Amino acid sequence: MSTIPLLSVRALRVCFAADKGRIWALRGFDFVLDPGERVALVGESGAGKSTALLAIAGLLDRQAQVEGTLDFPALGRRPIPGKDIGFVFQDPFSSLDPVMDVATQIAEPIRFHKDVSWRVARAQAVALLRRVGIEPAGARARDVPHRFSGGERQRIAIAIAIAAGPKLLLADEPTSALDTATQAQILDLLDSLVRERGMALVLVTHDPAVAARIADRILVLYAGRCVEAGPSARVLGAPRHPYTRALLAAALSLARPPPRPLPEIPGTPPDPEAALVGCSFAPRCAFAQPHCRTFSPGWTGTPRDGVACHLFSP
Ligand SMILES: Nc1ncnc2c1ncn2[C@@H]1O[C@H](COP(=O)(O)OP(=O)(O)O)[C@@H](O)[C@H]1O
Ligand SMILES: [Mg+2]
Repeated sequence: MSTIPLLSVRALRVCFAADKGRIWALRGFDFVLDPGERVALVGESGAGKSTALLAIAGLLDRQAQVEGTLDFPALGRRPIPGKDIGFVFQDPFSSLDPVMDVATQIAEPIRFHKDVSWRVARAQAVALLRRVGIEPAGARARDVPHRFSGGERQRIAIAIAIAAGPKLLLADEPTSALDTATQAQILDLLDSLVRERGMALVLVTHDPAVAARIADRILVLYAGRCVEAGPSARVLGAPRHPYTRALLAAALSLARPPPRPLPEIPGTPPDPEAALVGCSFAPRCAFAQPHCRTFSPGWTGTPRDGVACHLFSP
């Protein structure tokens, strides 16, 4: 018995026009997500993580050129952004309207997507404020965002994202702008909300510790492609792709107390404007063989648990 996926992404390619040529953000990205599943997208800056989320949400720039397919089989129709898909951005300081009280900001999507009165929408907004941990919710509902701390603002942004009851929540580095203690609280809040409401979650992070805390499954992105995917315990405990291994080794410092340095891997990712020949990680890979620079590795394993690396090709 197999579940009908919530989301199915096949061979997604996204590029942006540049001065001379094109910038490749995604170079063939495949991804299947089940209802209620929690997945983390990890990888260095520039890997295409945000582009993948924006493409899924239907929020890409109009100028972006998109190829490939994005389907929502369990939904059976095109998703309505804000209703079927909620989005939490990295920066809770710029994602909220500075002049509108927070309850109104939460009530708006409720009012817009559900057939309820303002009165009912506002009451639901106050209940949501309480649910995300803003106390006393009734009194603070009329405050504007600058009356709240960074962590509280991210709680409010989460309340807005889930207000209309989406089945898919997308979160792009939702804790990177926050201090470590607040990060853990926000992750716990996201975790309990997605479980309680049966939402699927796709969370972008450059921090494997964040992925370990919240995800059932991890996808590792490199230069616009998924190079490894699998259950979190497998990917973190027995990484296969040399890039995943390097990423985790670099992030070992995460086990140390903060302030944590960002993971760093020797070398630089490929030029996003260049056409890629062979494995995109080969120039930085300690295990690269001559054929790695010529032939692009295929996917070995199942769609949900596998690796794109010649070391593992049959
Ligand atoms: N709107 C845009 N216009 C031009 N280039 C873009 C745009 N958005 C992203 N890119 C480029 O696409 C690549 C992937 O970016 P992004 O998806 O933001 O990566 P990540 O979130 O993993 O850091 C980068 O090279 C980035 O500079
Ligand atoms: Mg990003």
